[in-house]
Amino acid sequence: MVGFVTSSNPLRDPRDRRLPRIAGPCVLVIFGVTGDLSRKKLMPAVYDLANRGLLPAGFGLVGFARRDWDDEDFARVVHDAVKENARTRFREEVWEQLLEGIRFVSGTFDSDEAFDRLRTTIEELDRARGTGGNHAFYLSIPPSNFEQVVSQLKRHDVTGESKDTWNRVVIEKPFGHNLESARELNHVINQLFSPHEVFRIDHYLGKETVQNMLALRFANQMFEPIWNRNYVSHVEITMAEDIGIGGRAGYYDGIGAARDVIQNHLLQLLALTAMEEPTSFEASQLRTEKTKVLAAAQVPTNYAAHTARGQYTAGWQGGRLVRGYLEEDGVSPDSHTETYAAIRVDIDNRRWAGVPFYLRAAKRMPRRVTEIALVLKQAPHLPFPTTDADVLGQNALVMRIQPDEGVTLRFGAKVPGTQMEIRDVSMDFVYGGSFTESSPEAYERLILDVLLGDPPLFPQHEEVELAWKILDPVLDFWASLPAQPDPYAAGTWGPASAVEMLARDGNTWRRP
Ligand code: BG6
Repeated sequence: MVGFVTSSNPLRDPRDRRLPRIAGPCVLVIFGVTGDLSRKKLMPAVYDLANRGLLPAGFGLVGFARRDWDDEDFARVVHDAVKENARTRFREEVWEQLLEGIRFVSGTFDSDEAFDRLRTTIEELDRARGTGGNHAFYLSIPPSNFEQVVSQLKRHDVTGESKDTWNRVVIEKPFGHNLESARELNHVINQLFSPHEVFRIDHYLGKETVQNMLALRFANQMFEPIWNRNYVSHVEITMAEDIGIGGRAGYYDGIGAARDVIQNHLLQLLALTAMEEPTSFEASQLRTEKTKVLAAAQVPTNYAAHTARGQYTAGWQGGRLVRGYLEEDGVSPDSHTETYAAIRVDIDNRRWAGVPFYLRAAKRMPRRVTEIALVLKQAPHLPFPTTDADVLGQNALVMRIQPDEGVTLRFGAKVPGTQMEIRDVSMDFVYGGSFTESSPEAYERLILDVLLGDPPLFPQHEEVELAWKILDPVLDFWASLPAQPDPYAAGTWGPASAVEMLARDGNTWRRP
């Protein structure tokens, strides 16, 4: 059998002496294989890994879903998803390799017969592909189905564990909808899988630029001295999306921006920005530092003053009129779900006491941008007679997560020809300008890490709990409000209440 790992892999630079991290033999089983995530991200990521030579010869991919498909039908679906969404070039020989290990099991989660077939399918693949009896189960399904699937796996002995093999489960957020439900969910998962076998996906942690934050902070000497309350005035973490909720009302309505992305992506970004340097990048060390900082974080209890929420109304975006949230298909007309959420988080430790971290996430913003901005205090004294200090901005270090991946430094410079007029300018590092390799997709990195059993980029349950502890009081407060979230027109930067929230502290949101 020919493996994916070839010395002539065209995507590898022959001068590159780093050892590639290649997964060992295994089967990846995806539940919810007919969903959007699977089509747009998971299946293309599996192909991209194969194409980069990072999957072993002994690899199998099993889809499980209700559709009445056979292996060929499923293979066609994977093929189309790959053609449409893969990052790397389509190569027939790679596809042929992958195809040999593709299987489909049709059935519902309550069908005993389907789970028996799943077990025999995996056993057959184990033999045919030499997968070594190692299995990863990817639950790309609503959390309400986790319990049923996990108990079916257990009852039908699908994992088939022995001491020389591994079984892992991958779960996608939302990890519950509050602290209590997160604990219940964890309990359900732990019935079959022990904590080290559980891989919680927060795809932001798989993004190259998020990992670059660690390089920026800990591989350089120049930033650390200013990375604290002595120099930083406040931190703004923004995740703005220009899209609305599209066809996702079933998921989004009742969830809202805070549960959808602040609880996970933005609080993880906060943890990476604010944590102390881990002694190593081993999972336990990294998690310890993230956990410490999340445990010290809280939203100040005057929630009316330090949080804001909004809901988009019809408006102009990208030159066309788009409808408001309440008019979206499947949204209840009196929905209180927020599509804009902003919270202030204070971190009670020596490094950050007195430095507000403002987190905002929203749909239907003027543009798509995710960034972390450390806004520095103003210079204490300006010796230039003609300069009006009020017109000077504040120095800022901005880590641009997407879409223009890079880092920007903002500072004052002299305007040419004038006496001593200072104006803000930017100095940019752009990923694409410095590196020729394109960044792998977050899901490529994370799926590979699951197959390798490499846990640093996966939040553990304790972090999930701490994030809910930060957010729960805010969500309870919002739920107690009789009014709907404040309106903002699609294509604008959010409701007036969010502007006021920062103005109370003497700050303003950046316009990225
Ligand atoms: C997901 C959210 O986690 O992240 C979506 O559920 C959001 O609502 C998406 O659109 C954004 O991901 P990215 O990688 O495009 O920033």
